[in-house]
This record gives sequence, structure tokens and C-alpha cells, in this order.
Amino acid sequence: MGRLQDRVALITGAGGGLGMAMAKLFAAEGADVVLSDLNGEAIEAGAAEIAAAGGRASFVTGDVTKEDDVRAMIAAAARVSPKLHVLVNNAGNLLRSDFRHMDDATWESVLNPHLWGTIRMTRAALPLLTAAKGAAVVNLSSIMATQHLRQLSAYSTAKAAIAGLSRSLAVELAPYGIRVNYMCPGFIPTAMTGRYTDHPQVSKGLLAQMPMRRFGTPEEVAKVALFLASDDSAYTTGEGIMVDGGMSLNLV
Ligand SMILES: NC(=O)c1ccc[n+]([C@@H]2O[C@H](COP(=O)([O-])OP(=O)(O)OC[C@H]3O[C@@H](n4cnc5c(N)ncnc54)[C@H](O)[C@@H]3O)[C@@H](O)[C@H]2O)c1
Repeated sequence: MGRLQDRVALITGAGGGLGMAMAKLFAAEGADVVLSDLNGEAIEAGAAEIAAAGGRASFVTGDVTKEDDVRAMIAAAARVSPKLHVLVNNAGNLLRSDFRHMDDATWESVLNPHLWGTIRMTRAALPLLTAAKGAAVVNLSSIMATQHLRQLSAYSTAKAAIAGLSRSLAVELAPYGIRVNYMCPGFIPTAMTGRYTDHPQVSKGLLAQMPMRRFGTPEEVAKVALFLASDDSAYTTGEGIMVDGGMSLNLV
């Protein structure tokens, strides 16, 4: 307990499975959490739940693909404190399509929230992150950054780019006391992955590939995010952590 005591954490996509689990865990660890998402109802309910459990939370509805919304999210964090200790770039979508059917707009619809969202949010947050004198940025990449799954070329491209961006920013932002790390979850049942994890045949195939023979939980991902967000990882930057039950190691 208390690993984020009196720190301020802004989490995008906090209305979804992984983001909400992070928001709850971070608040339980003492953080003042700002939940942001396109889905205002989900983050309002999440913030209320955190407050009812004795934590501190606020929420701001917004789209990471819109510059004005990004400014509003950062302004919401600034109202809590002029210092932002943790930024989790977690918002994103999943679009499946064959490469040969994808026009520019289709590519943009995936690259924009994942990659550009991460770029815009981090850029806009820089003054607050710098003011924290020891901030952590945690970016959501994926097992798909290095692996193939049918019809996910745009998603894989975005997640690989987020890994590369994280490594570059780790070096570039170190002089400002900002660490930048990323996580690569495998298959965690959420609204995004239900089409895989809830499908009898598909999930059977996926589980057969997983040495641990089970899907991960949002709470297990949140614990790794907490490690990267807190001083427990104070000497780690530019690193990516797989949270995939060993799936990416297994050729079977
Ligand atoms: N669940 C997994 O197995 C898994 C694996 C690897 C990576 N990830 C990544 O983790 C992150 C969270 O995924 P999840 O599984 O919790 O999915 P989810 O669908 O439950 O949550 C995603 C959230 O992002 C929000 N969002 C989408 N586009 C947005 C935008 N433009 N602006 C603001 N908010 C937006 C959605 O409203 C939703 O609440 C994503 O970046 C995803 O790619 C998830």
C-alpha cells in the first residue's frame, strides 16, 4: 500500500477493462487519479466507486485523437496539481481488416488513437510531468508489436511504433526526470478482446499456445503498470515488459 502516495496519475482509456483496473489499483496505492475516456459514463462511475472506497479520483471525458480534448484532459490534471507524476497512455481500439482492403482512413482510425494519442498526450503533459521531478510515463504496447494475428496489421504497426517511441522518449526525456516504459499484454479478457477470448474455438487455440494455459486478468496487468509507474522501477526506463503468460515465447 502507498506506493503512489500523494502522486497524481492520469490514465487514458480508463473506462475500459485495463484502464479501470489500473485506476482502482493506483487509487488504492494512494494516487489521486484522473480517469479519462471517450465513455464519460464509465469513468464517472469508476471515479465514484474509487471515492466510495476512500480513494481520490476525478474524471474528464475526451478523445485522444482531438487536440482540444487532449488539452482539456491535461487541464483537468492541472486542476488537481501542477505536477503530474504518472501518465498512462492506454486508450485504444481494435480494428480487423485485410491489408488489401484498408485505405488511408482505415489506417488512420487505428494509428490515430494508439500512436498519435500517445504522442499528443505525452507532448501536452510535458510541462506537468517535468514539474513532478521524477515522473513516469507508461505506454500500452502489446504482444502484437512483435507477433502476427490475422487482420491486425494496423494494430500491430501502432503497437510496434509505441514501443519504438517509448524507447526514444526514455532517452530524450531522462534529463527532465521522466521515465518512459511500455507494457506488452497478451490476451486479457476485456471489451476489446472478447471476440477472441469468448469464442470457443479461437480461445481454445490461443490457450493451447499459452504455457500458463489461461488468460491474464486486468488486475495482473495493473500490477505491472503500478511497478512501472512507481519508484519500484526508479532505475528502469525505455523497457518493455511482456504480460502474456509466456505466450510470445511459445512456438507451439
Ligand atoms: N486486453 C488485452 O488483451 C490487451 C492486450 C494488449 C494491449 N492492450 C491494450 O491495452 C489498452 C486497453 O485495452 P482494453 O483491453 O482495456 O480495451 P477496452 O476496450 O476495454 O478499453 C479501451 C478504452 O479506450 C477508450 N478509447 C478508445 N478510443 C479512444 C479515444 N480515441 N480517446 C479516448 N478513449 C478512447 C474506450 O472508450 C475504452 O474505454 C489498449 O491500448 C489496448 O490496445 C490490451
